[in-house]
Amino acid sequence: MCLPGPAGAPVFHRFGYNSFVQTILAIETSCDETAVAILRYRTGHPGSELLASEVASQIAEHEKYGGVVPEVASRNHLVHAPHLLERATRTAKIDMVEVDAFAATSGPGLASSLMIGASIAKGLSIGFAKPYLAINHLEGHLLSPFFFEDGPPRPSGQTAVPAVDLQPRQARRSESVPWRTRGSSAVTDETSLFPIRPNVSLVVSGGHTMSIFVRGVGDYQIIGHTVDDAAGEAFDKVAKLLGLAYPGGPEIEKRAHDGDPARFDFPRSMLDSDNFSFSGLKTAVRYLLPKLKGDYLADLCASFQQAVVDVLVRKSIAAAKRYGVDLVTVSGGVSRNQELRRQMSDACAREGFAFKSAEPWLCTDNAAMIAFAAMLRLKTGFASRVAEEIDPNLALG
Ligand code: KG4
Ligand code: ZN
Repeated sequence: MCLPGPAGAPVFHRFGYNSFVQTILAIETSCDETAVAILRYRTGHPGSELLASEVASQIAEHEKYGGVVPEVASRNHLVHAPHLLERATRTAKIDMVEVDAFAATSGPGLASSLMIGASIAKGLSIGFAKPYLAINHLEGHLLSPFFFEDGPPRPSGQTAVPAVDLQPRQARRSESVPWRTRGSSAVTDETSLFPIRPNVSLVVSGGHTMSIFVRGVGDYQIIGHTVDDAAGEAFDKVAKLLGLAYPGGPEIEKRAHDGDPARFDFPRSMLDSDNFSFSGLKTAVRYLLPKLKGDYLADLCASFQQAVVDVLVRKSIAAAKRYGVDLVTVSGGVSRNQELRRQMSDACAREGFAFKSAEPWLCTDNAAMIAFAAMLRLKTGFASRVAEEIDPNLALG
C-alpha cells in the first residue's frame, strides 16, 4: 500500500506490521564512470538491500589521452545513463513509480559530468513528485566501508567488480534475502540502526587524498588533504612515465607484486604534517628513470607503491591516535590496493585500532555508495531543493 505524502516528502510503502519500505535510486556521474543503483530498506530493520548496481566505465574512451577528457566524459554519460536506468529498474524488477527518492552526486567532480546525473535525478524527482537528494561524492566514499553493516548476509558466489571494464555492466546485485529482525519491538531511532562509529577515514582516489574525522553521518572534520597530486593521480602519472596503461593503480600493483619494495629509496613527503604531497615522489621517479638499465620495472613499481602506502598508513595511525578514535577506515579507488589494505590492517592491529575498508567492488566510483549515503541522510531528515546547483568544488560538511 502506498501512503499519500505531501509533495516533496518521502512516501513509504507499508510492508507488513510496523514496517515500511523505502526505495532509493541514485545516479553517479562525477567523473568517467556512469553509474545507477537502486537500494531498498525497511524502517526498523538494520541493513539494506541492493536491488541493482550498474556501472559503465569509459576507460577505453579516455585511455588514448592518458587521462579523463571532460567533454568526452559528459557526452558518454548522456549516452550511458538512459541505458543504465532502464537496466537497473529491470534488474531490480521495479517500476520507476515505486522509487521513493532520487539521489545524485552533486560534487565534487567535473562540472559537465555532474550536471548530467544531477539533471536526470532532478527531472525524475519532479516527474514522479518524490524527494531529490544531492549527495557529496566524498561522503559516498567515506561511508562505503559501512555498507551493509549488520545487514543481510552477502549472497554467495558474488565476484568483485573488475577495476577495468570497457562495457556497461551489472556491478552487483544482491539476491533477495530474508531480513533479520530485532525482536518484535518497534524501533524508532532509525539512525541507531546504522551505527557509523566515529572513525578516522582515509579517502584515497584519483581526485582526492583526504583524512577525515568522522563523528557520525553528516558530521565531518577534514584533518588533512593533498597539497598537490592525489595518491591515485600519482599512480596514474607514474604509470604513464613507465609506459603502462590507464588507470595506473592496478597496473603498478600488478608489477609490484614480484618487485623489491626496498630497492629504490623514494621520498616520504610531509610526514610531520596532516596534509599529503605526492608530486615530489612522482618527480623522483621521473629523474631516476633515465639512469636505470636492465630489469627494474617490478622493483620500481614496488618501491613507488611502498612509498605511497607508508605515508598513507603512518598519517592515518597518527590521526587516529590524535583524535581518540578506535577505528580507522579506508575507501576510494586506491583502497583497492592489496598492499595498502594489508599494511593498514597490520598497523591498526599493532596499534590497537579496529580497521574497516570498503569492499573492493565499492572502492572505485559507483552509485551504490551514493544510494547508501542518501539512505543514511534520508534517515536524518535530509532532502535537497531541486533548484540546488551542482558544485564541482563541493566541500564535505
Ligand atoms: O575512486 P575512483 O574510482 O575515482 C575517483 O573518485 O577519483 O579512483 C580512481 C583511482 C585511479 O587513480 C586509479 O589508478 C586508482 O584509483 N586505483 C588504484 C587501484 N585501483 C584503482 N590505485 C592503486 N592500486 C589499485 N589497485
Ligand atoms: Zn571517487
